[in-house]
Formats: sequence, C-alpha cells, structure tokens
Amino acid sequence: MNQQDKQKAFEEEEKRISETVSKIKHRIAVFSGKGGVGKTTVSVNLAYALKMEGYSVGILDADITGPNVAKMLGVDNDIIFLNEKMIPFEKFGAKMISMASLLKNGTPLIWRGPMRSKVINQFLADVEWDELDYLIADLPPGTGDEILTIAQQMKPDFAVVVTTPQDVSILDAERSVNMAKELKIPYIGIVENMAGFICPRCGAVVELFGAGGGEKLSQQYNIPLLGSVPIDLDARILGDAGKPIVLEKPECEVSKSFKSIADLIHAQHYEAPTIKKP
Ligand SMILES: Nc1ncnc2c1ncn2[C@@H]1O[C@H](COP(=O)(O)OP(=O)(O)OP(=O)(O)O)[C@@H](O)[C@H]1O
Ligand SMILES: [Mg+2]
Repeated sequence: MNQQDKQKAFEEEEKRISETVSKIKHRIAVFSGKGGVGKTTVSVNLAYALKMEGYSVGILDADITGPNVAKMLGVDNDIIFLNEKMIPFEKFGAKMISMASLLKNGTPLIWRGPMRSKVINQFLADVEWDELDYLIADLPPGTGDEILTIAQQMKPDFAVVVTTPQDVSILDAERSVNMAKELKIPYIGIVENMAGFICPRCGAVVELFGAGGGEKLSQQYNIPLLGSVPIDLDARILGDAGKPIVLEKPECEVSKSFKSIADLIHAQHYEAPTIKKP
C-alpha cells in the first residue's frame, strides 16, 4: 500500500468510526490505575443494570491483551463477519465484542501499543453496533495506549474510575482521575469496589481492603463517588460462570450497588444532573 492509499484507508476508517459514535447516545470508559480491582466486573454489571432499566447496551472489551468480558459472559464462539463487518455477540440482551473471540484460550498476545489501538479502532469502525443508548468500554489497567485510543475515537462522555478502598489502589486511581481530566472526558465518577466482605455464614462485614478510600478520593478531587460495591463470593463465582450477578441475584447488596450506580449515571444524562463537570 503506498502512502496515498494508506491515507485514504485511514480517512475511511475515521469516517466509519464517526458514523458508529454518532449512533451511540452515551459512551462510558471504565478504567483503573491498578489491575484486578474489578473493572470487568463493573463494566459487565453496569451494562446489565442499564439493560434492566430498558436501555440498549453494548460492551466493547478494550482490554486487547487480557480480554475477560467474553469469559464473564460465557461467550466462547468465534466472531461472525458479514459484508466486511463484525457482528457483535448478543448475550442476555446486550451486545459485546472481545478480542478473546479471535484468540484461542491461553494464546498470549504480545503486541505493542499501536497494534492494540488498531484493534480498538476496528471494534469501533467495523462492528455492527447500530443504535445504542450506552456503549461501555472495559479497559486494561493503567494509562496506556488503549485509554488514549478510546478517549480519542470513542469520545466517552463518562469516565468510571474503579478502585479498591486500600491506599495503594487509591494512589493509582489518582493517576486515572487525572488522566480522565487531561483527556477532557466530561464526567468522571469513582466506583469503590471490594468495599467490605460480607461473610456468607453470619452476614458480618469484614473490611478486607480497608474502608473510606473512595470517599477520600472523591473529596480530594471533588469528583462523585458513584457507589461502593461490597465483596460477595457469588459475584466471583457467577462471574467465572459467565453470569452477571445483577441478572442472577438482583436483590443482593452487590446488585443493588450496581443498579444505584447505573441510576446515577443515567440521571446525570437525563433527569437531574447532580455531578458537576470537573
Ligand atoms: N465485588 C466483588 N466481589 C467478589 N469478587 C469480585 C468483586 N469484584 C470483582 N471480583 C472478582 O475479582 C476478580 C478480578 O475482577 P475483574 O476481572 O473484574 O478485575 P479487573 O480490574 O478487570 O482485572 P484486570 O486488571 O486483570 O482487567 C474476578 O475474579 C472477579 O470475579
Ligand atoms: Mg479486566
């Protein structure tokens, strides 16, 4: 491909991305400074909490080298291509696309940033998302190329920064909050996950990862704490089994937290905006 052809292909892709984005009312980026704090769990359950309210939702697994959304939804099929477009999977009434569907289990993907960004571009340009109320991007930890690409191309209007209550996670979450500010994402909210473990035997709450970190961060940066999600054994068991807890156990504390977070995000866009732009 010569330089002119490359430029033309680039411009065409940009155009397709703009068309995709223009058909999606709201776009949410879920990220964190630290790994394993629950981004994928938050992305998936937030998606279904919104779906339960009657909104059309898609989940874009933007964690290219460690894609977990497919696993958490029990999807292990290959992606279907139709007329040069990828057809997103439909699971429990929401759409989803993940690099996991292009890889065999256990295959490592050792790609530099530009390659990972290219896949994200394709997930926006060449996936038949159609009209959606919400598209949620589940990002890898840190402040790497994926978040930059999502910010530039998907143009999220809401950044959800996930953290656990402990100091080391809060420290990393600060970086994520500052990154969301620098990327000029209009709204930023914090989700404190793994905030207290509910003992399945006696119901007592054990503060496994400390307490109050999310609230402290919220005050320090004047950014709302959207909610605190406790640790519940079922959240992990159901996640591993490909069943979002909000759908399976809608009345448990974890699900109630996710629903309340979804309500806050939705209210921000439609009813009573309570969150000030940073
Ligand atoms: N509130 C919770 N209660 C119980 N288990 C949870 C909770 N949140 C997350 N988990 C479990 O913790 C593990 C890590 O969660 P998850 O994969 O969502 O984190 P992540 O931030 O996406 O990780 P990574 O940085 O690797 O992408 C998973 O096994 C998940 O089921
Ligand atoms: Mg993840």
